[in-house]
Amino acid sequence: MTEHKYDFGLVGLGVMGHNFILNVADKGFSVCGLDLDQLKVDQLISSGGDTERVQATTKTEEFAASLKSPRKIMLLVPAGKLVDTAIESLLPYLSEEDIIIDGGNSFFTDTDRREAYLAEKGINFFGSGVSGGAEGARRGPSIMPGGNKEAYQHIKPIFEAAAAKFNGEPCVTYLGPKSAGNYVKMVHNGIEYGLMQLTSEVYDLLKKAGGLTNDELSSTFDAWNNGRLQSFLIEITSEIFSQDDDLTNGRLVDMILDKAKQKGTGKWTSQNAMDLGIPVPSIDIAVSMREISAFKDMRMETEKLYEKPNPADVDKDQFTAKMEQALYFSFIITYAQGLQQLVEASEEYGYELNMSEVAKIWRAGCIIRAALLDDISKTFSANNKLKNIVMAPAFVEKLKGTVSATREVVAYGATYGIPLPGLSNSLTYFDAITSGRLPLNLIQAQRDHFGSHTYERLDRDGIFHTEWK
Ligand code: 6PG
Repeated sequence: MTEHKYDFGLVGLGVMGHNFILNVADKGFSVCGLDLDQLKVDQLISSGGDTERVQATTKTEEFAASLKSPRKIMLLVPAGKLVDTAIESLLPYLSEEDIIIDGGNSFFTDTDRREAYLAEKGINFFGSGVSGGAEGARRGPSIMPGGNKEAYQHIKPIFEAAAAKFNGEPCVTYLGPKSAGNYVKMVHNGIEYGLMQLTSEVYDLLKKAGGLTNDELSSTFDAWNNGRLQSFLIEITSEIFSQDDDLTNGRLVDMILDKAKQKGTGKWTSQNAMDLGIPVPSIDIAVSMREISAFKDMRMETEKLYEKPNPADVDKDQFTAKMEQALYFSFIITYAQGLQQLVEASEEYGYELNMSEVAKIWRAGCIIRAALLDDISKTFSANNKLKNIVMAPAFVEKLKGTVSATREVVAYGATYGIPLPGLSNSLTYFDAITSGRLPLNLIQAQRDHFGSHTYERLDRDGIFHTEWK
């Protein structure tokens, strides 16, 4: 290696790391990569061209020595033990004030633990979600950093240059202390799960009830992507329907096994929402559906035991228009749930999130980017403490305009045995959260009846118990 000192270091030269380095280098910063795999090192050096701009090594000491002070080192390694291993291997070669940034989907309490451990050694640690996949890493992802605010100033120019831009604004901002960045990324992924589940339900209905062919599905999603549903997920869905299969004469989507895998971030979102007491049923059900999908053999068996009614004929165009409304309605509700979770988590964990900024940095680069996020960002900039966007006038209008089509669509699915758990959970959540009186008074009565758990009354303060007859 040359004596040249590099602006930025990156550990883990998988496709994300490789691409992110080239992205940062394109923006005028010099970068050194570290990976134990010589092949990945060689590939990066040859992609980088000029070794004073892009360099790589398999040797940790050489890597650390090549970086400008304070060192800014990003880890793009799989979440879990490997992050701790990477940190330990770097530590002997680091100095106080150096910065380590974990760019993976680490669980937020792991980030808090690592931050406290490294703070004792004078090292600044950032948990920084990066969204946008391999393409995003190369062309501009959305970046969600949390950690020490002063230390952020050292990485800010690099992250702002590398991030995606929305109307010229970088999709990165300092989010808050400790695990704020990882937490925001976790909820981003929870919302991602919800939106993907909803999209798959609409696909199912359009196909089973509307009889749409793959070409029609592709053009329908394309048209939707040119309207208020404009979003990355709708855009790629349109592309997916037109992808031919290399191995058969059909389309690839029809040949893919209907079992969805998961790496855990959606489940963590649901689990932590329960810990916080925040309802996110559109996300919960998306996790459950991936679990149900795994039971392929059981599903194949039980399908033989229960007949389903044949879906009634529908007017294709009218039905498709209603599906667009139901999807728009449910997208809003899914964002609303995830955002409420963030508002509460911000209080609980002291993140002091600026909700408008969170929505802003999701407007480009990330998987859940959507036209809706610009409206969401404006809504929060008027009121950062807003508990739930369903209360904001701009969203009241949007939901009122689409709820009746959503009811029709959900009723159709229920009548003909087409599972629409994301759409129906979104509708049910909406109906519950907008009901001033719910029947949970009965649950309180039952609890008091069988267990003397007490209840409160509508007409006077205090805690009451009744000797039920
Ligand atoms: C992103 C994605 C990314 C990853 C998902 C996939 O924002 O770029 O969310 O982080 O692709 O975590 O998650 P599952 O494997 O759990 O579906």
